[in-house]
Parts: sequence; C-alpha cells; structure tokens
Amino acid sequence: EAPVRVALLGCGTVGSEVTRRLLGDADELAARIGAPVELAGIAVRRPDKHPELPQHLLTADAGELVESDVDVVIELIGGIEPVRGWLLTALRKGKSVVTGNKALLAEHGAELAAAAGESGADLYYEAAVAGAIPLLRPLRESLAGDRITRVMGIVNGTTNFILSAMDSTGASYAETLDEATRLGYAEADPSADVDGYDAASKAAILASLAFHTRVTASDVHREGITGISASDIVAAKRLNRTVKLLAICERVTAGEGADGTESVSARVHPVMIPRNHQLAGVGGAFNAVYVEAEAAGELMFYGQGAGGAPTASAVLGDFVAAARNRVAGGRGPRESAHAALPVRPMGQT
Ligand code: HSE
Repeated sequence: EAPVRVALLGCGTVGSEVTRRLLGDADELAARIGAPVELAGIAVRRPDKHPELPQHLLTADAGELVESDVDVVIELIGGIEPVRGWLLTALRKGKSVVTGNKALLAEHGAELAAAAGESGADLYYEAAVAGAIPLLRPLRESLAGDRITRVMGIVNGTTNFILSAMDSTGASYAETLDEATRLGYAEADPSADVDGYDAASKAAILASLAFHTRVTASDVHREGITGISASDIVAAKRLNRTVKLLAICERVTAGEGADGTESVSARVHPVMIPRNHQLAGVGGAFNAVYVEAEAAGELMFYGQGAGGAPTASAVLGDFVAAARNRVAGGRGPRESAHAALPVRPMGQT
C-alpha cells in the first residue's frame, strides 16, 4: 500500500504534539486511514534549535518541502505571509491542506477555499476555532440543512483563563498572562489574545460557515480585555455578575416581515454576564459556544479550547479525514457557494 506522505510546517506547542502522535501512533493512524503514514519532513525556522526532533526530517525551507512529493500539508506556523503562498501552492497542486491558522483563514479563507475547489483538494481547519471542540464540522456539515440564527460564546482560552483567575483569586492580570503562556495557551504574541484579534478571527470563521457568507476579521467589531481592571471585576461581583470575553455572530433583520433585509453582524467584546448563566461557569482555557438554529433550537459545544494536546486532537482528526479521502479517492467536505448575505459594517449591532 502506498504511504500517505505528510509535511508539517511549524513545530511549536501544537506542532510538537502532532509530531509526537504522527511518529508514536503511526500504526494506529495507518489502521484508521487504510494506508501507512509517513512524516516526510518538518519545516522549522531554526533546525538547530530542535535537538529533540529526528534531525533527518528537519528543514528550514518550508516552500521546498511543500513542493516535494507529499500528499498532505499540515500548517501550524501561523500568520499570513509567507504561509498563504505555500498553502495556495499546495492546494493548486492538489495536495490536501490541514491548518489551524485563524488569522489566515479569517483574511483569505475565500481564496484558499477557491483554490481547493479548483483542484479538488481538501482544506480542513477544525483546529482554527475552539481547539479540541468539534465545532466547524457541525456548522459546515451537520447543520447545513438548518438555518443558523446565532453563534455566541467564549472562543479564546487565554483571556478566559485570565478573567476566570481575576474573578476567583483576585490575581493580577500580568501573573495570569504569564501562567497562560507557560501552559501553552497564549499566542506567540499574546496581544493577539488580550486585544481580541484571535477571537475576532475565530468569529469571522464561525460567521462565514454559519451564515454561508464571507466575513473577514476586519468586519468584526473588536474590543479586548486590557481595559478590565480588578475593580471592574469586583463591581461585576457586586451585581452578581462576572466578566467574559464573548464572540457574538448573528443574522440580523432590518425592517418588517417580508420587506426586511437580512445581514450578518459579528462582534467580540467583554460582557458582564449573570453568575448563574452557563457561560459564567466556563473556567480555565475552556471554550463554550452556543449555536442557535431555527429547527435544531439551541446547541452547546464545550471543551478545551487551547493547549498543545487538545488542539493536536483537532489537527489529527482533520489529517485522518484528508488522508482517508486520498486513500479512498473520495472528496469533501464542501463549503457552500459563498454569495448570499451581505455583511454589516462593524460597530452596528
Ligand atoms: N491563543 C488561543 C487561545 C489558542 O488562547 O484560545 C487557541 O486558539
């Protein structure tokens, strides 16, 4: 049986866990896929900084690795350029792409999906939103026959970890941010977390899938948690509330009845929520997302939204799906043809 050859781009918190599983659980993965799995190479910026990895697999040339004889490219570097070019090349050559790159998808998801559509390659990105929680597949597939009206929840583990700690222990913002970084929750530049950029990218991805349109990060009204002080938390407690950073994506209708025009709005900002609300009990790096759909009603997705092993779970699930498609010759899943709904300018709610 011909092996499925995989290239890994990036070997940080999530990438090192993915490597460990690809090498250590190769037999189990092969049984699920129906063909052997071969890790063909790992691209890292500084190979000399990774004595723990098999040296013969390392390269500093991600572009060359993508162009080499590989079937699946797993991208966990992050950022937009030069990653965008590498992934477009991979997709155009018919290679499957698995990525957790929120910022890239929020900005250029349409371009990547179009490249995948043209060559018939798979593009999977479950790890980009809410870590281990299966959320994008339900939106893209399971709920594709329903009409989603709202997606709302906690989608950033670092800020949730910080806000939960400030609420329960009165710990300072700086201490808890250090701890979140140590635990592997925070982005390489934690301002992406605390200023709400990470959550805004995730909101754009969620809104795009939920409402079958294209929302980019710049369409999302964004406010982070850097302005939240210990006294704000105390004031919220007095009101029997707690502060959470929420992403809220909604289908909104202006006007009445059949004359109403629909659009989509997405926003990220701190919200004081009642302490008996289910979201108030979501602590640590956990994420929780409510999805409301006309026929299904309210659904709740909950689990570990950040960290190496939980996020690697989502990456490997996507890898298995992409590899199975290659082995069986199948294709999918497909996204809707993006056309219908206009996006509200940010700030309007
Ligand atoms: N920094 C992100 C978070 C990682 O804290 O949620 C998961 O996307």
